[in-house]
Amino acid sequence: MQKISVKGGKALKGSVDISGSKNATLPVMTAALLGQTLSTIHNVPYLNDIKTMAEVLRTLGAQVGLDDHQLKIDPVGFNKFEAPYELVKTMRASIYSLGASLARMGEAKVSLPGGCAIGARPIDLHLKGVEQLGAKVTIEHGYVHAKATKLKGANIFLAGPHGPSLGATVNVVLAATAAEGTTVIESASIEPEVEELVNFLNVMGAQIEGVGTSRLVIPGKKTLKGVDYTVIPDRVEAGTFMVASAITNGDVLLKKVNANQLTAVTDKLRQIGVVIEETAEGLRVRGGGDYKPADVMIMPYPGFPTDMQAQIMALLAVVPGISIVTETIWENRFMHVFELNRMGADINIDRSHAVVKGAKKLTGAPVMASDLRASAALILAGLVADGETLVQRIYHLDRGYEKIETKLSALGADIQRVN
Ligand code: EPZ
Repeated sequence: MQKISVKGGKALKGSVDISGSKNATLPVMTAALLGQTLSTIHNVPYLNDIKTMAEVLRTLGAQVGLDDHQLKIDPVGFNKFEAPYELVKTMRASIYSLGASLARMGEAKVSLPGGCAIGARPIDLHLKGVEQLGAKVTIEHGYVHAKATKLKGANIFLAGPHGPSLGATVNVVLAATAAEGTTVIESASIEPEVEELVNFLNVMGAQIEGVGTSRLVIPGKKTLKGVDYTVIPDRVEAGTFMVASAITNGDVLLKKVNANQLTAVTDKLRQIGVVIEETAEGLRVRGGGDYKPADVMIMPYPGFPTDMQAQIMALLAVVPGISIVTETIWENRFMHVFELNRMGADINIDRSHAVVKGAKKLTGAPVMASDLRASAALILAGLVADGETLVQRIYHLDRGYEKIETKLSALGADIQRVN
C-alpha cells in the first residue's frame, strides 16, 4: 500500500502548472460518444478517474486511446448500453453513460451508484430528467434501466433540495441532444464543468443556447461531429495549490489557471489575509500575513465550492480565532475533521457546521484519507505540521490530483510517496 509522507515546515516557492479539469473532462468524454467521428481531447489530466471513464466508454463499444494528456475517442463502435457495477462502483461519473446511451440507442442500463464517504449521492434528478424526455425507467437488481422508443423535448425543472445538480444536468443535456423537438432545462447547474460540456457539444454542432446560465435550450436532433478540443484547467487543483501557498506562508505562481472560475476561493483567501495577484503569467499567491479567521458557507457555483471545503478548513485550523465552515451540499463531508484533530486541530462539528478554533501548531501523525478532497486537506495540514504526516489510502488522491507530490516537491515541500 502506498502512502504519502510529508514533513512540514517548508515555505513553498516557485511556479506550478495546473492540469486539465477532471470533472470537466469526464462529461466531455461521454459527449464524444455522440459524435459521428473521432474526437481528440487535449489537456486531459492523467488520473485514475479518467482511466476508469475510458474503460466505461470501451465497455460501451467505443475505441479510446489515452496518451500524454491527449484522448482519442472513436465512437463508431458505440453499440452497447450497459455500464456494469464493477466500473460504476469505482467512479460515480459512470452514470453519464445513462444520457449518452439513451441518446444513441434509446436504451441504457447503468448500475446504481449508491452512497459514498461524502454523502447519499442520490440520482433522482437524473431519472426525473430522462423520464420527462420520454424514457421509461425501472430499477431492478441494482441497475437503472431506461428505455425510450422516442425521446421528446420537454421543459424540465432540475433543481433538488440542495440546488442544481451537475451530474443530472449532464445526463439530461446528453439525452436531449437526440430528442425530437426542443428541451428547456430550468435551474440547470451553472458549474464551469457543465459550461464546458455545452461548449464541447456546440463545437460538435449541437446549437445549445444559454451556455453558462441556469436556462439551457437544447434543440435536439442535430448531427454531431467529432472535434478537436482542449479542456479547461482544474479549478479545484488550482484552489488546492492556492491554499498550499497560503498555509506555508509561501509565494507560488499558478500557471495555466482560469482566475474567473476561482473568484469565491480568491475572495475568501484575501479575506483571511492572503495576497493574490492576477498577473500576465498566472495567479500569484503569497502568504505570510497576519491571518484572520473567516466563516465559509459552501454554495453551488459561483459560491464557495464544496470541493474546496476540506482544504480551506486545513488552513483555518492554523489561523488564530474562531472560523465556522458550513457544508450545504454533502451531508457527510466532514470526515477529514477527525483526522485533522488527530494532528492537533481543534474542530467541532454541529450538524452542517464545523467550528474551527485555530490551533497554534499542528503535529504530524499517521492519518487516513476518506475521500479525494480530504486527502488533499491532510497533505496541506502536513505541510505545516511539526514532524512527519503519513497519509494513508492515497488511492483517493490518485483519482483526482495528477502527481501532487511531484508538483509540491518542485515547490520545495518535503514530500514523497512511500511504499
Ligand atoms: C459533482 O458531483 C462533482 N463530481 C463533485 O466533485 C462535486 O462535489 C459536486 O458536483 C458538487 O459540485 C464530478 O463532477 C464527477 P451534484 P455530482 O449532482 O454531479 C443533490 C470531487 O471531489 N442531488 O451536483 O454527483 C446531491 O445530493 C467530486 O471531485 C440530488 O438531490 O453532484 C447534492 O446535495 C466529489 N439528486 C447536490 O444535489 C440528484 O439526483 C449536488 O450534487 C443528484 C444530486
